[in-house]
Amino acid sequence: MIKAKDSTRLLLISLLIGQLYVSCAGSPVDTEVKDTNYQDDEYDYGGFDDEIIDVTKGHAEEQAPPYFEEMDLRIEAKPGDDVILNCDARNFQLSNAVVWYKSRTIIANGQNAIGQRVECMMNNSLLLKDVTPEDSDDYYCEILPQMVRQHTALRVGARLSILCDDRDITDRSQTFRQGDHHKLECRTYLPGNATIKWSFNDLNGQPATVDHQNGVIILDNVDEKNAGDYQCLADDGSRHPPHGTVHIDVQYSPIVSTHRHNVNTEKGATAELYCNYRAKPIGRSYFIKDGKTLQLSDKYSLKDSVHNGHNRTTLLVREVTDSDLGEYLCQVENAIGSNEVKVHVSYNPETPQFEDMTAEGNKVTLHWLVRSHQPLSEAMLDYQLTGSYTWSTVLVLETHRHNNTENIWKITHQLELSRGVWHARVKTKNTQGWSHFSNDYVFEIPEGFDVEKDEEVELPPDEIVRAGIMPMSKGAASSMQQLNVGVIMILVGALLLRVHL
Ligand SMILES: *[C@@H]1O[C@H](CO)[C@@H](O)[C@H](O)[C@H]1NC(C)=O
Ligand SMILES: *[C@@H]1O[C@H](CO)[C@@H](O)[C@H](O)[C@H]1NC(C)=O
Ligand SMILES: *[C@@H]1O[C@H](CO)[C@@H](O)[C@H](O)[C@H]1NC(C)=O
Ligand SMILES: *[C@@H]1O[C@H](CO)[C@@H](O)[C@H](O)[C@H]1NC(C)=O
Repeated sequence: MIKAKDSTRLLLISLLIGQLYVSCAGSPVDTEVKDTNYQDDEYDYGGFDDEIIDVTKGHAEEQAPPYFEEMDLRIEAKPGDDVILNCDARNFQLSNAVVWYKSRTIIANGQNAIGQRVECMMNNSLLLKDVTPEDSDDYYCEILPQMVRQHTALRVGARLSILCDDRDITDRSQTFRQGDHHKLECRTYLPGNATIKWSFNDLNGQPATVDHQNGVIILDNVDEKNAGDYQCLADDGSRHPPHGTVHIDVQYSPIVSTHRHNVNTEKGATAELYCNYRAKPIGRSYFIKDGKTLQLSDKYSLKDSVHNGHNRTTLLVREVTDSDLGEYLCQVENAIGSNEVKVHVSYNPETPQFEDMTAEGNKVTLHWLVRSHQPLSEAMLDYQLTGSYTWSTVLVLETHRHNNTENIWKITHQLELSRGVWHARVKTKNTQGWSHFSNDYVFEIPEGFDVEKDEEVELPPDEIVRAGIMPMSKGAASSMQQLNVGVIMILVGALLLRVHL
């Protein structure tokens, strides 16, 4: 205790002596030598701890130069803040002077500040009033004559920042994982009231709406659809409102599909199975049959291709035999997960695909395409008015083989229908069996084209429809028509359904 007190006293004395020494005996040469020492990165600050020992030894000429406990400071501020930059030197003496620099420019010399918003304080601190993002810079105070410096990096936040989970990601990119939970917040530092407006464009550049509350977007169970560009704008009524953007990427497990769930083939043919997928990061695809991953062989080969928005792996099965029929799985996996699609290979016709429709008043002509190596023997068209419980059916009995090298058939039907929203679907039969029904095609017969308004009032919709079939089935004199699509085998049932008998 006593010892410590004594040394403190001695230290004080030595400091006083040191001060005298500086002001009286300090020569320019001396300071310059010292300067180089202090500028030196490897200067040993620990040396000051030895001061007391020196003092007890009675060395008074070793004056204590000013120094900083910390050389580099960092200050974060918001626009409009008043910021104090400290210059808190130890051993600061009356003979010392302080100069403040912004980057390399002097902004204050002693108590004289340069600039309206700058003020010098008695303790050498500098007050910067009403800071703006442009004030962000490296500031330092330099103690003369030793030229000891303390740096302060000032960062004044932008007028608007986008935070993701409380981290500033303004104008940057961020990658989320499917299923994650994240918070995007748009924060402004504006004097008045600004209205926060968020907008969102998905990866295809399509705008979509985003819900936010007080500038906060909660992304729960993140999904591929959340990927894109989020822009925040703080509408403060000015011509150039502050804004910022973040790009969000989402890693997701593969999305797997096929455009042909049922593949028609015949003995000896090569069957093609399609597996379409999207994945991020990139996925790997496998085909599996009867629980076994198919290996490349004379039997199986794989083709990879890139299509609009997705990748495709095509499995070719050569020299098809009965044992190649059945269910195949296409499995795609990536770092996030895996998914699969089933493809069924058989001798039955493939599911008909709607091609197009032309309408002339209440007469509509519908076209479907069907693939079948084997000749089609029949097609069945179902249609119903929305809201009715039963389908009405038309059978087309005649088929016409048009071209042997292509396996696409076209089914064409003309219907005359009453006003309303109609559903239509077809299935086809070849020598081996029936296809599945196509998806419903939904279309509307607008008002003003009804043939027999009176009858329509008398009969409930189902009756009208059923009544309408009668002349149809009789009229199985389906007029065959060769379409000028050369490669297409045509199965045409150009049928006119009349609402009245
Ligand atoms: C200097 O003075 C200002 C104003 O009184 C004060 O806010 C600041 O903390 C002081 N700096 C130091 C290093 O004491
Ligand atoms: C900010 O909004 C509040 C209420 O919405 C209103 O009372 C106030 O006057 C507005 N201030 C400015 C500067 O527009
Ligand atoms: C498709 O595959 C390529 C590499 O073969 C990959 O770079 C790309 O990201 C994939 N696209 C999708 C949508 O998965
Ligand atoms: C079938 O179509 C192919 C390709 O369009 C053509 O080369 C071939 O001559 C056609 N065959 C018949 C029998 O019309």
